[in-house]
Amino acid sequence: MNTIIVGTQWGDEGKGKIIDILSAKVDYIVRYQGGSNAGHTVVVNGKEYVFHLIPSGILHKGKICCIGNGVVVDPQALIKEIKGLPKGDVGNRLKISSLAHVILPYHKVLDRLRETKRTNKIGTTGRGIGPCYSDKINRCGIRMADLLNAAVFKEKLKDNLKEKNEIFEKVYKQNGFDFNSIYGEYLDYGKYLSKYICNVTSLLNKAASGKKDILLEGAQGTFLDIDFGSYPFVTSSSATAGGACAGTGLSPVKIDKVVGVAKAYTTRVGEGPFPAEFDPSFGEFIRKKGNEFGATTGRPRRCGWFDSVMVSESILLNGITELAIMKLDILNGIKKIKICTAYKYKGRLFKEFPDDLEAAKFAKPVYKEMPGWEEPIDKAKNFLDLPLNAKKYVSLLRDILKVKITMVSVGSSRDNTIFLD
Ligand code: IMO
Ligand code: MG
Repeated sequence: MNTIIVGTQWGDEGKGKIIDILSAKVDYIVRYQGGSNAGHTVVVNGKEYVFHLIPSGILHKGKICCIGNGVVVDPQALIKEIKGLPKGDVGNRLKISSLAHVILPYHKVLDRLRETKRTNKIGTTGRGIGPCYSDKINRCGIRMADLLNAAVFKEKLKDNLKEKNEIFEKVYKQNGFDFNSIYGEYLDYGKYLSKYICNVTSLLNKAASGKKDILLEGAQGTFLDIDFGSYPFVTSSSATAGGACAGTGLSPVKIDKVVGVAKAYTTRVGEGPFPAEFDPSFGEFIRKKGNEFGATTGRPRRCGWFDSVMVSESILLNGITELAIMKLDILNGIKKIKICTAYKYKGRLFKEFPDDLEAAKFAKPVYKEMPGWEEPIDKAKNFLDLPLNAKKYVSLLRDILKVKITMVSVGSSRDNTIFLD
């Protein structure tokens, strides 16, 4: 069984926890897009791990964890993460696609400089993601395989620096980068990572033919997708289920199901429209209660009510067959809970996220309201253990979204999870 896990909102849905849980039953866990902009949190025995590039299944012994061709790899960040793993080494369980593109120092600097020049800032993570994907599309990117061949790397880096340094000096009026320092440093990274770099695509297709189970770990979320997200306030990769095949080379006919992950409310880091956003004081309250601070940058996340317009679109677009609802416990003790079911702008009712930037920015949410529950729910093991109104909230989401809800998370650790049939 090969499963794609995909975020249905603006990222930070709790994908890390779901991947960790589902990893126990598969053989391979694979990241297919994004880079170290992702921050996937896994809590095991009270200890918290945050993964940026390494697949969130790594804590399960014996599982093969792959970084697909669709990922942009910052070798420095990756090596730091490898060294921080429980036993300091991942043995032969980590595989990095030789086709994955490499984030270089100039990508990170360009990412930040471009943000300072924009009138409409995106609020990127500053990890060099956009500039690296731009180079990939412009056909001047450097891939993991290039780090293993000094002559090829030299020629490509020289070419790149010629262009990039001209941009730094002429457009941004600052010094460019020195060839020798990047060249030496990145060749060393290549040497360090060489034992992990391989043909991940053939590995996965052979595994799938050999009846092995693969979990494809999406980063970011549907509304951060380069095509379907709230453009231009998005990331630069295909964060939807479609990206899983392009980002691994695993054939689409080998995908069996798509599991969506949604938070019981909505959060967003960075700029861009957010129709169901809370007013500042309630937003502050939920941010504290839910510890809504970016796992990568530590930035405060913007918070709002559950937006069923967005999640319905995600379900359709990704072909989601099962949904996990996360952080339900954060809604404990709230008197009145709302679900956004449509938007209104200039007398028009929107049942889909508006493509028009102005409408998306100024649209007013239409809410369905229901009473909340008082009791803490983190000890609940079964759906029936939940307070009546918590059960009603989950059932209402299921009815509005017309999807099977198979998991409800009521706390950060593995055991704070309710499984439904
Ligand atoms: P996970 O996988 C939430 C957001 C940034 C910014 C926009 C573009 O942990 O859910 P980028 O650096 O990618 O060019 O920034 O995307 N963003 C995320 N928001 N969770 C993430 O990942 C994100 N990765 C990027 O905040 O708005
Ligand atoms: Mg995150």
